[in-house]
Amino acid sequence: MAAYELIRHDYDVAVVGAGGAGLRATLGMAEQGLRTACITKVFPTRSHTVAAQGGIAASLANMGPDNWHWHLYDTVKGSDWLGDVDAMEYLVRNAPDAIYELEHYGVPFSRTEQGTIYQRPFGGHTTEYGQGPPVQRTCAAADRTGHAILHTLYGQSLKKKAEFFIEYFAVDLVMSSDGVCQGVIAWNLDDGTLHLFNTSMVVLATGGYGRAYFSATSAHTCTGDGNGMVARAGLPLQDMEFVQFHPTGIYGAGVLITEGARGEGGYLTNSEGERFMERYAPTYKDLASRDVVSRCMTLEIREGRGVGPEGDHIYLHLDHLSPEILAERLPGITESAKVFAGVDLTRDPIPVLPTVHYNMGGIPTNYWGEVINPTDEDPDAVQPGLMAVGEAASASVHGANRLGSNSLTDLVVLGRATAIRAGQTISPGQHRPEPDTESVSCVLDRFDRIRHASGAIPTAALRVDMQRAMQRDAAVFRSSETLANGVAEVCGLAGDFADVNVTDRSMIWNSDLMETLELDNLLACAVTTVVSAEARTESRGAHAHEDYPDRNDDDWRMHSLAWAVGGEYGLGYRPVHTETLTSPEMGGIDPAIIEPKARVY
Ligand code: FUM
Repeated sequence: MAAYELIRHDYDVAVVGAGGAGLRATLGMAEQGLRTACITKVFPTRSHTVAAQGGIAASLANMGPDNWHWHLYDTVKGSDWLGDVDAMEYLVRNAPDAIYELEHYGVPFSRTEQGTIYQRPFGGHTTEYGQGPPVQRTCAAADRTGHAILHTLYGQSLKKKAEFFIEYFAVDLVMSSDGVCQGVIAWNLDDGTLHLFNTSMVVLATGGYGRAYFSATSAHTCTGDGNGMVARAGLPLQDMEFVQFHPTGIYGAGVLITEGARGEGGYLTNSEGERFMERYAPTYKDLASRDVVSRCMTLEIREGRGVGPEGDHIYLHLDHLSPEILAERLPGITESAKVFAGVDLTRDPIPVLPTVHYNMGGIPTNYWGEVINPTDEDPDAVQPGLMAVGEAASASVHGANRLGSNSLTDLVVLGRATAIRAGQTISPGQHRPEPDTESVSCVLDRFDRIRHASGAIPTAALRVDMQRAMQRDAAVFRSSETLANGVAEVCGLAGDFADVNVTDRSMIWNSDLMETLELDNLLACAVTTVVSAEARTESRGAHAHEDYPDRNDDDWRMHSLAWAVGGEYGLGYRPVHTETLTSPEMGGIDPAIIEPKARVY
């Protein structure tokens, strides 16, 4: 075993990640008296949730009629019938209470004239089961909603005495020989020490892996660290082929311009000045679901109607809105447009392009946050000692395509559920077996091997090759040819990781080593994304396959599973949950309403 001193900690729970999901789970654990360590590689309020702009969906009905049945219908349809219906019902039913809870914790939501929480329209959110006008369902704190939620949850977690391990990089899970997760090993970036957290439960809340792509709205920290740890533990990742492109990333910079901009009346035009979404989605136009708008923008560009000298992007107009409305409701993007596109959006349109934004796939869980490790007998078998929540997880409340503003809802509703289930499964201070020494030494050996890697390929070179391959071959539109290329290239690059070169061997703030560990995680995500995408011979949600343009429910209404270690991989499948939680007699939705049908906006 590589010789490292390990500083030992004993906690009931270790939550890895301090974004919205990690903090909500941490807070809930601490409220129940579970001794909880929250381990985070960045300061909590710098987690990527801080960048969430437009808002959080819940059927409060503050701005007009709404109810959870409509929200459920929109979410099921948005998911292109791949989401688990029980999980989606849990999400939308609990959303209003979650918002009031946030309000009481202190989130400074924007207000209506009457003093209620302000709600704006967002893509794919409708009334009357997609037959009525767009609904105002997205609760907002101007266009800095994630920022407001994150700061509030961090303050509340400190108040409840959760303990934070800040700027600690989680390296790997410790697994017993009979497959129980016993804790996690983390590296303190600041002083170079290594820490073993021996726990009854680990919760992975490590966010998405947008940085597997060349251009993403995600922070550079979004490197799929939890997904990588799960893959190395021999567990599967689910539905990784479904990568969401947000329609309005700033051209060139990739910085997010919230969908709330279109919610407040913004619209897209092509080089002919045409509001082209009217052609593709006559009812909801610019407020169609994200995957639909991103595809339409891509088609306009492909057909020669893109704007700019290269004809390679689209314009987003907000110049018709009053400066007062922009200042009150969209101050953040007003600034982003100026800084990153040099545009005064009160006068000129913003150049935008579909940009990687969100991963629907991730670590398979049920809606209580328990990780699923399917067996032949039980496709929903629970993995002991391990939970996952937020973008790292696939619960699956978003299926093949997430509706805008359902993500923050997911973080807080399922973050809370994860804490509730942990409280039912484990008790404070319960006996824990000693961590498996073989697993510990495996983790340290890998860490040491990467720290001393002296191959021929610099980390940055391997990373950019992966990012360019993903951007080219697993894009808004995919084909059998691009996906075959993507599989060959990305699996080859994952194999090349054995020849990576780390130049800095130190232990203190060694960003070369940290980026290499992150790259290993990203490669596991990239491999599972392309192999799952190549295998899925249909089009559904964010997976638009040019050789298989139709959805095929008979063969493909099922979750993909992918295992990956190095360049090697395996594939499997598990059924989608199609049953609601509540019968119509008990106030639930009529199941006939959410039966699969053509998805038009
Ligand atoms: O457009 C946005 O504000 C993003 C929201 C989301 O991804 O939910």
